[in-house]
Amino acid sequence: MSEAIRDDPPLRRSLVRWQRMGIVSFLLLVVAFPLYKAVEGTRRDDAKAALQAALISQGRHQWGLSCAECHGVNGQGVDAPALNAKQFFEGVTDEQMHGVIAGGVPGTEMPAWWNEYGGPLTDQQIAALVAYIRSWEKTAPSRPDWRQPHAPMGMG
Ligand code: HEC
Repeated sequence: MSEAIRDDPPLRRSLVRWQRMGIVSFLLLVVAFPLYKAVEGTRRDDAKAALQAALISQGRHQWGLSCAECHGVNGQGVDAPALNAKQFFEGVTDEQMHGVIAGGVPGTEMPAWWNEYGGPLTDQQIAALVAYIRSWEKTAPSRPDWRQPHAPMGMG
């Protein structure tokens, strides 16, 4: 500390005060930053969950329009495989589902749905369907015969 400051008690008190305020501000920032990150993080998670819920709801609507007739209203299978089945989910990724829905299964009743392949749906609509089908996974019942048609008049 220089002579000038030591010889000037009011100046010295003032400097000490400023120093303390600096330390307090620094500590506030140290506390505030992680707090901000935590709040921001949950906000981002909330936004993500809301987006996912909207996607699933859109997929549910599309399912009723395009898929329920063959696969059943609840995916239980009619004259197409049950997709609401533990055994189906065990072996399928979202990418594979997306691919089958987009391109269909040639030589079967399952048509191509993607508009790039002449179908009626956009890539985004197919993604919504995948999200909706995936939402069954947690409660999907065991159906060892999920691939068999279930309608009385099914094509065996
Ligand atoms: C006209 C009847 C029909 C409609 C409508 C239909 N499907 Fe299919 N789908 C089938 C049949 C039949 C199969 C089984 C094809 C085979 O033999 O592999 C199938 C297979 C599938 C599979 C693959 C299952 C597996 O074996 O892994 C998925 C996923 C699927 N459909 C989703 C959909 C979705 C989503 C829609 C609505 C956009 C839809 N399907 C509409 C008849 C249909």
